[in-house]
Amino acid sequence: MAIRAEEQSFTIETKRTVYQLKADKFGVLRHIWYGAKTGCDMEYLQVYRDVGFAGNIYEASGTRDYSMNTMLLEYPCEGIGDYRIGAVSAIHGDGSCALDLRYTGCRIIDGKYSVPGMPAVYGGENAQTLEIYLHDTATGVEAVLRYGVLPELDIITRSACIINNGSGSVMLKKAHSLSLDLLKGEYDWIHFCGRHAMERQPERARLIHGVQRVSSSRGTSSHQQNPAVIVCSPDCTETNGSCVGAMLVYSGGFSADIEYDQLGRARLVMGIDPDTFSWRLEAGESFYTPEAVMCFSNAGFERMSHNFHRLIRENICRGKYKDSVRPVLINSWEASYFDFDDEKLLDIAKKSAELGCDMLVMDDGWFGNRNNDDSALGDWFVNEKKLKGGLNALTKKVKALGMDFGIWFEPEMISEDSELCREHPDWAIRIPGRAPVLSRCQLVLDITRSEVREYLFNSISSILSGADISYVKWDMNRSICDWYSAALPPERMGEMPHRYVLALYELLERLTAAFPDVLFEGCSGGGGRFDAGMLYYSPQIWCSDNTDAFDRTRIQYGTSFFYPVSAVGSHVSAVPNHQTGREIPFEARSVTAMAGSFGYELDPAKLSEQERQAVKEQIIRFKKYAPLIHRGTYYRLSDPMSDNYAVWEFVSADKAEMLVFGVIFRAETNMLRTGIRLRGADAEKRYRLEGTDMVYTGAALTEGGILLPDTWGDFTTAEFHFVEEK
Ligand code: GLA
Repeated sequence: MAIRAEEQSFTIETKRTVYQLKADKFGVLRHIWYGAKTGCDMEYLQVYRDVGFAGNIYEASGTRDYSMNTMLLEYPCEGIGDYRIGAVSAIHGDGSCALDLRYTGCRIIDGKYSVPGMPAVYGGENAQTLEIYLHDTATGVEAVLRYGVLPELDIITRSACIINNGSGSVMLKKAHSLSLDLLKGEYDWIHFCGRHAMERQPERARLIHGVQRVSSSRGTSSHQQNPAVIVCSPDCTETNGSCVGAMLVYSGGFSADIEYDQLGRARLVMGIDPDTFSWRLEAGESFYTPEAVMCFSNAGFERMSHNFHRLIRENICRGKYKDSVRPVLINSWEASYFDFDDEKLLDIAKKSAELGCDMLVMDDGWFGNRNNDDSALGDWFVNEKKLKGGLNALTKKVKALGMDFGIWFEPEMISEDSELCREHPDWAIRIPGRAPVLSRCQLVLDITRSEVREYLFNSISSILSGADISYVKWDMNRSICDWYSAALPPERMGEMPHRYVLALYELLERLTAAFPDVLFEGCSGGGGRFDAGMLYYSPQIWCSDNTDAFDRTRIQYGTSFFYPVSAVGSHVSAVPNHQTGREIPFEARSVTAMAGSFGYELDPAKLSEQERQAVKEQIIRFKKYAPLIHRGTYYRLSDPMSDNYAVWEFVSADKAEMLVFGVIFRAETNMLRTGIRLRGADAEKRYRLEGTDMVYTGAALTEGGILLPDTWGDFTTAEFHFVEEK
């Protein structure tokens, strides 16, 4: 059994890790250990000592070494003498803020819990749930801490439910999903920061005393920070050292705070962004936090990433496309932006069908009076001036070419210059009496209102059922502020950012259930909402609006710490690149895009004959490798943030096949070829390098490695496909 409860002591065991917590004689729930399996009760590492200015709980008076401020706690509250960052905070009817949640009981359940109204990890063989019940005697507030365990993947999930069992209302100011106290030591942390068109750049630093924080108050998980962080030993590398990765299954504003305290211990808390959150709980009401997922590895980042990749692929993504190789698509955006009509689209379709593409995606600009980005969002009806004869006629013609058809929506938005806004000006989020903040000239729809969701469900459904549509790109192109909903009373206005996310999930759930054969791809100006919450509804997300292959190697590298390659939307685009002006050879662009869903984002009419042949060959090559790329185990063989090359590898589950791809950024004169050691090969197996007579042992490939090619010009590529020689 993965979960054991002995009296008030709890052990959650995965294949290689152990999580221990205990409720002590005072009912205080203490964290004991999260790390490798030791076969021991790790409580011996807990130190009790009298520390100046660390108060004692009343029941422990006379024992000055018992203090909430110096113990490792499981779900720390505010106002009871622990001065570190808390996981939960509430204002009671009398204006006081203290919360003292003590243990009252537990339950172990087979299977994995779900979180009402929110995405969560599901199933998994041998999955179990531990529920721990806590109670604040003074107010009647209760908490249920829920732990899910997927033993094979070394994954432990967390979610809390706060229940107001008192008689008056309580205002929650913070209700985090996860709190994790770590023993005294030195730690680094890694977070994934960036900006529009440069997302998820890993940044690593030593923890310093005080609170370090990453967060988003933008209503989305954001380009600027990602809801996933790593705390690790300072010596942690890809393959050595210990680390804990923690990720939220949530798409709204979040915060991840780490406090390095006066005693050299670290506390990580993670959950909904408290700066843009409050939640009123009337007597009898409950609040569920989103889910957080943790994975510990004492074999470096690689093992942690592998477990997160499998978790997302197998226990978060859903639907028909979860396991299947995705279509190679051609997207109209960088090919023609807003300037297209049915003839142009058909021309793109015809030319790309000849090259082997599977699907035409008609991006922004097909609806209402949308000829640039300052109008028509919300008007989800076909612009027949552009698509003469309508959508059905166009999709039929595209189908006749042997291609599927995909379409772009930005459902959560409304342009001031739109029929929808003229008809329902009050549907846009704005604060009465204030001018709203515009971004890309657009406003956000108040999807917390059911009539707005109904409108969106009906208008999107009518497009999807009115023509043969196989794919939806669900975009979201601004950050949100001006939080106000006409449907909420003033005392509940602080609930709106989270209610927005719940509304989004409800709409996505309804639409994905109504159109189970449609492949949904998430997008938010590229990767502004690239998180495990969205991956529950869309198995792939457009990784970045930046299609420059050099930048993409770094964006995809950062993305890979938590998210699998199967989730990464990536396309080959034209040069000079539309975001950077850089001119990277075609082959390097295609190799980089092959670390993802693969497709094109260019006008095939502008390709030379040589490039057309290259596209044909690239698609054949991608399709040959696609199962290995999407289902194989992914290895980072370099750090492109500092190395002059990006090299990555896919290994099949049976270790019979390895594929190494690489891009060497700058050419170097008078220099020896760079050696790269593979990982994941079976030392005993013999592998032939495809296309050659060379046969290597797995041991040679992992101990000695291979040599990257000599460079000639910038962005030389490498491709090595090793197949087991039987
Ligand atoms: C966002 C997306 C792009 C494209 C445009 C259309 O920026 O990330 O891929 O769809 O919107 O307006």
